[in-house]
Amino acid sequence: MKVLILGASGATGKLVVSQLIKREINIRIVIRKNAILSDNILNNKLVEIVYGNIAELNPIENKNLIEGCDAVVCCLGHNITFKGLFGKPRLLVYTSIKNVCEAIIHYSPKKMKIILMNTVAVANENKDVNENRSLSEKIVLSILGVLLPPQKDNVSAANYLLRVIGKDNEKIGWTAVRPDSLIDDDEVKPYEVFETIKRSPLFNPGKTSRINVGHFMAELITNDELWQKWKNKMPVIYNK
Ligand SMILES: NC(=O)c1ccc[n+]([C@@H]2O[C@H](COP(=O)([O-])OP(=O)(O)OC[C@H]3O[C@@H](n4cnc5c(N)ncnc54)[C@H](OP(=O)(O)O)[C@@H]3O)[C@@H](O)[C@H]2O)c1
Repeated sequence: MKVLILGASGATGKLVVSQLIKREINIRIVIRKNAILSDNILNNKLVEIVYGNIAELNPIENKNLIEGCDAVVCCLGHNITFKGLFGKPRLLVYTSIKNVCEAIIHYSPKKMKIILMNTVAVANENKDVNENRSLSEKIVLSILGVLLPPQKDNVSAANYLLRVIGKDNEKIGWTAVRPDSLIDDDEVKPYEVFETIKRSPLFNPGKTSRINVGHFMAELITNDELWQKWKNKMPVIYNK
């Protein structure tokens, strides 16, 4: 098995890589030239490194990226700087996930899993699910979607999987994992996963450790029962 990881140099992406290394899974990462990664990842025999900017790859480069892979994990996110938040590419996550999905649809001989790191600030617009958000929260989130490019990006990426890829795609099964406020922790600790939010991300936010997100994503790749439970859904993950 081989897993392609986008955003592997990010705070959560690195932890997904480590979780997959622990499970002895082959990994391909695509990182920018200046990305910082530990020697344990850079010199690991399970890790293949491709240098480039994921948002700027052409269709053939995306085809090469997915070749031989069984799953893709996307932990991309906008850097928290003025340029990262408001500069280009404004739709970093959406563009990257769409390009990779198109490469899979056109070129992959087998069905692949896509696991997207999303957020509780994105509503699950799946008609089978009632997220029960207050009107004030819906209003604030839709204003943020207009004013804050990363919010629009996360909404666009999730809706691309939900509406364009859909639930019956022959080549792609997907999960959009939605953590609440991210925190760092050294080890995996108990966490809970739900179909919908259990608290308001704006007015009563919960916490999710990045390492728990990494663990859950790695389990989605390796544990078929868990995958069957969450495929084509937008699970919310909170620390217990
Ligand atoms: N903060 C929260 O509380 C919270 C809560 C829920 C969900 N989220 C979501 O979680 C995701 C990941 O969070 P994180 O803290 O793990 O992210 P992070 O540490 O900021 O990592 C972001 C990753 O994206 C890459 N990246 C950024 N800008 C790029 C660009 N222009 N072109 C190519 N690659 C680029 C970075 O690469 P470089 O290393 O090269 O910069 C890095 O690998 C984000 O989408 C965020 O919206 C956040």
